Amino acid sequence: MTIIVTGASGLLGTALVGALRDSGRRVVSLVRRRPDGPDEAFWQPREGVLDPAVLDGAEAVVHLAGAPIADKRWSPAYKRELVDSRVLSTRLLADALGRAERPPAVLVSASGMDFYGDTGDRVIDESAGKGQGFLPDLCERWEAEAARAGELGVRTVQLRTGLVLSRFGGALKPMLPIFRLGLGAPLGSGRQYWSWIAVDDWVSAVSHVLADDSVSGPVNLTSPAPVTNRDFTRALGRALRRPTLPIPVPAFALAAGLGEFARAGLLPSHRIRPAKLTDSGFRFTHTGLDEALSAVL
Ligand SMILES: NC(=O)c1ccc[n+]([C@@H]2O[C@H](COP(=O)([O-])OP(=O)(O)OC[C@H]3O[C@@H](n4cnc5c(N)ncnc54)[C@H](OP(=O)(O)O)[C@@H]3O)[C@@H](O)[C@H]2O)c1
Repeated sequence: MTIIVTGASGLLGTALVGALRDSGRRVVSLVRRRPDGPDEAFWQPREGVLDPAVLDGAEAVVHLAGAPIADKRWSPAYKRELVDSRVLSTRLLADALGRAERPPAVLVSASGMDFYGDTGDRVIDESAGKGQGFLPDLCERWEAEAARAGELGVRTVQLRTGLVLSRFGGALKPMLPIFRLGLGAPLGSGRQYWSWIAVDDWVSAVSHVLADDSVSGPVNLTSPAPVTNRDFTRALGRALRRPTLPIPVPAFALAAGLGEFARAGLLPSHRIRPAKLTDSGFRFTHTGLDEALSAVL
């Protein structure tokens, strides 16, 4: 049983590949450099290079590749890179699935809760529509490329992932040094909801959607207990046993420090219900933020 994984060197790819291998699966990583052994195969999404034979006979493809969202300021060129690295790579995979002689039965492709845009206090599930702005537009185009594989008869799942809690990367890692100094503070109004998921629940949820043939289309990978940013700030302070500041960092200061990403990535409110996961019988290990943070940290 072979699973093809893109973006395998990333935060989520590393966690997933480890778990798949522990469960006895063979994992072949698609890499953008010279492959190192039989468990790697070459692709170059920017140039449209992927031999469809690499996918032949595999059980599934999990597509996680994409330029990092929060690592650089969003210049026009970097925004193009954010889009192209996701849209072109997903198109390439869908085309290769169409040309493979024995294509995998399922494509699980990354996306984000950013699809929904700013939804305020409203509790939303997968039936909610797309929001406004760069990240919702990006997610829509990214998901549409994955959906082309669905039109070829491949079961397709788009992972609308929330804020993944891991001490090794993602949103939490840059927050930790600030909070350890006792300088953690709410962001913007602090009233925006953050829908989070612990990294081990994310891995289990991907294994669940790989195994359950009844699951397809967009799936929210977020815990059932979203909290406001203000409550998240307090919980992280508690987990680190450090005080937090009651005065929020104003939106303009965030934008001055982090650029457009602050407004698009940190301030929108996402109060998300993981309806498809829970309806298909998935059980979260971590449903409360305090417990999840102490497990992760
Ligand atoms: N972590 C989160 O909280 C979160 C939340 C929502 C959505 N997501 C999405 O889930 C996916 C995986 O997240 P992650 O946190 O594991 O991301 P990550 O740590 O940034 O890893 C992404 C991987 O994509 C590949 N990559 C980087 N730049 C690329 C480029 N320009 N073109 C093609 N591939 C490139 C790299 O793998 P190789 O070098 O091995 O090719 C990299 O390790 C991403 O698409 C991300 O947007 C993540």
